[in-house]
Amino acid sequence: MNTPMKRGALIGCGFFAENHLHAWSGMQDAEIIALCDIDETRLEATAIRFGIEKRYLSAQEMIADESLDFVDIATTVGSHRVLVEICAPHVATVICQKPFAETIADAQAMVDHCLALGTNLIIHENFRWQRAFQQMKEMVDAGKIGTPHFARFSFRHGYDNYVNQPYLAEIERFAIMDVGLHLFDLARHFMGDVALLSCATQRLNCAVRGEDSFTALLQHDSGVTSICDCSFSSHYAPEPFPRTAALVEGDQGTLELDREFGITLHRDGVRELSNAEPDVPIWGQKPWHTTQQSVVSFQQHAAAVMHGKAQPQPSGVDNLQTLKLALAAYQSAERGETIDMRSWREDRP
Ligand SMILES: NC(=O)c1ccc[n+]([C@@H]2O[C@H](COP(=O)([O-])OP(=O)(O)OC[C@H]3O[C@@H](n4cnc5c(N)ncnc54)[C@H](O)[C@@H]3O)[C@@H](O)[C@H]2O)c1
Repeated sequence: MNTPMKRGALIGCGFFAENHLHAWSGMQDAEIIALCDIDETRLEATAIRFGIEKRYLSAQEMIADESLDFVDIATTVGSHRVLVEICAPHVATVICQKPFAETIADAQAMVDHCLALGTNLIIHENFRWQRAFQQMKEMVDAGKIGTPHFARFSFRHGYDNYVNQPYLAEIERFAIMDVGLHLFDLARHFMGDVALLSCATQRLNCAVRGEDSFTALLQHDSGVTSICDCSFSSHYAPEPFPRTAALVEGDQGTLELDREFGITLHRDGVRELSNAEPDVPIWGQKPWHTTQQSVVSFQQHAAAVMHGKAQPQPSGVDNLQTLKLALAAYQSAERGETIDMRSWREDRP
């Protein structure tokens, strides 16, 4: 018997939504039947491109008119809370792009609202869905390196992101809120929750407003450590964007992910190599296939959640802990202090 289709709407027809819409259009058990954007030109162009007839300039109107199973919110962060609150009472599942909020107060309100209604809140956090990280996690869980004690997740490049995402150059809180969230999610995914955090930031490109580089040291609850570092102003040839390099060391071996998708397992004095390069989706192209595959995998997972076959990864509740790390990282950098996450409170709600 065929799985019934879940019917959804996508809100926010901008740069990244293109990946969402391509990924949804290839799925057998979930589809986008309506689009919403406050920008009519973008809305029309996207609707025509993806052959979607139902188009709305207001999420409120759309949610009143349509009978939907889910919404996929792909707008920038400033609109997330209001959109989640509009949609959550009317759908079983809300998917919201990262960063899901700018403050803990907003994030907590969204989480509480969805919990009270019994609505699934899934955060579109796609790095842990990249093929390389899925393979590395399987290897760690299979005991290939023993018990992990150190990890590093490193995202350094010199790609001009400001062409496709001009808002990145204008926001006060940039690298940590943009890429730091992804790296902190990976650190928690591999090493568990965090007890202590310290972070230093840099603004290497004076044409951008916020920090475009940071280095964070995390001490996890179990005592193991990790480093997350990112730069938008580094010189490498070939340009590594949008790939992440990583290292997870355990008491019996080490896993190393290079920027060419190679995973090296060092164990018992020998090296075992595997390749984690994802396929290029039919609608995709290199070098963006890292991201494109992760969006497909994430959305397939979201559909599995909608069909009751999986638990959200990550849920709003889980991603709240990652957001706390990002906000605490700013506090650490501003004050030059190590932050104890067990007693940390937001200082600028
Ligand atoms: N997961 C990833 O790897 C990844 C990569 C890039 C961007 N993102 C995230 O995706 C989100 C969107 O980024 P983008 O670069 O596509 O932004 P964008 O500015 O290109 O697109 C956002 C769209 O949302 C629309 N919009 C804003 N408020 C709205 C509202 N209230 N109702 C309906 N439409 C509204 C805007 O008109 C615009 O068309 C951001 O949160 C960003 O951080 C994630």
